[in-house]
Amino acid sequence: MNYPFKEQRKLFPTLTKTIHLSSCSQSAISLPVKDAINHYLESWTEYGMDWMGWMERVQDAKNEFAALINAEPDEIAVLSSVSDAASAFAGALSFTAERNKVVTPDIDFPCIGHVWLSHERRNAQVTFLPAEEDQTILFESYEKAIDSQTLVTSIPHVSYYNGFKQNLKSLSSLAHSKGSYVFVDAYQSAGSVSIDVKDSNVDVLVAGAQKFLLGVPGIAFMYVKKELANQLEPLTTGWFSRKNPFAFTNQVLDYADGTGRFDTGTPPMINAYASHAGIALLNDIGVKRIETYLEHLSKLCLETAQKHRLEIASPIDIAQKGSTTAIRVKNAVYLEGHLKSQGIIVSARNDVLRIAPHFYNTEEEIVQTIEAIAHALITK
Ligand SMILES: Cc1ncc(COP(=O)(O)O)c(C=O)c1O
Repeated sequence: MNYPFKEQRKLFPTLTKTIHLSSCSQSAISLPVKDAINHYLESWTEYGMDWMGWMERVQDAKNEFAALINAEPDEIAVLSSVSDAASAFAGALSFTAERNKVVTPDIDFPCIGHVWLSHERRNAQVTFLPAEEDQTILFESYEKAIDSQTLVTSIPHVSYYNGFKQNLKSLSSLAHSKGSYVFVDAYQSAGSVSIDVKDSNVDVLVAGAQKFLLGVPGIAFMYVKKELANQLEPLTTGWFSRKNPFAFTNQVLDYADGTGRFDTGTPPMINAYASHAGIALLNDIGVKRIETYLEHLSKLCLETAQKHRLEIASPIDIAQKGSTTAIRVKNAVYLEGHLKSQGIIVSARNDVLRIAPHFYNTEEEIVQTIEAIAHALITK
């Protein structure tokens, strides 16, 4: 295949020195993101403070994220982490005697389970769906678990562990048929898998900026369907949740219209500069094009791993996986360090090494990395 993103790859000078395959953890730094961070620093240096300019950039970041997932800009809130965003949604719910069940697979990143468990003191009842042996979750497991008592079905779009991808549209339709809300953790998919919140009809979707969104830690985006947002009153709140933050009235708790009511305190501004630049780059290229290319790299990764008889912990069916391919190894953390010393950045989690390419990676980089892993396993 002719590499389709030659020009865009040049925006990542660091790739001349390293093979960066850890977008499931931290993606590579690009010139537009670096420039955006510098822009914030320059405006601070130049003007002492540029409150309005900084707030505009936070709004720009929300707009770019909204465009990425086909939402309206006023359906997006900005928080500091996915954990914060999940907590904000959970805190806004009422767990009643009739509806208090949360159904979630036990393959999501642990912080989501922790958030739901922390609401057991508010009468939540959490049901973890056990994973199959191959670390996937069957649709039938959701069918069995979701019932008329289910308040929330909490779904990781793509698994942090092995890249297993779930079908949001069919799960959403199943959950809604029982009257359950649908909460999606899209941290491992946003930016690498196309997301359309209207078409999939999910209620809440959250993602941080550090992984496939090409940004930095310390900022997360939260989509809440407009009609739903207006019915919820978050427990975690702050002056940016108000109708007019600059009214400075401390005795009136008026929630802003739409999802803005999930904003809290002063937003993470420098992080918004970085994530705006990262997401704008993705929107310029188009996530659909990126997704198609990453499916191609996924196939190549799986085939090369099979050729070298590596143990694959990811689904073999491309339709069931995102960008990440997980290789099961004995000492993942040691191997991560060993590969890093050769200029290859992959990410260890438990018993797997995760190879998580983005559009800036090439076929050659995938093959070279798998060969390096195979070689390390033979010689270790
Ligand atoms: C799928 C997923 N959800 C949530 C998190 C944690 O996000 P945060 O640290 O922003 O709370 C991670 C981190 O790796 C993740 O992969």
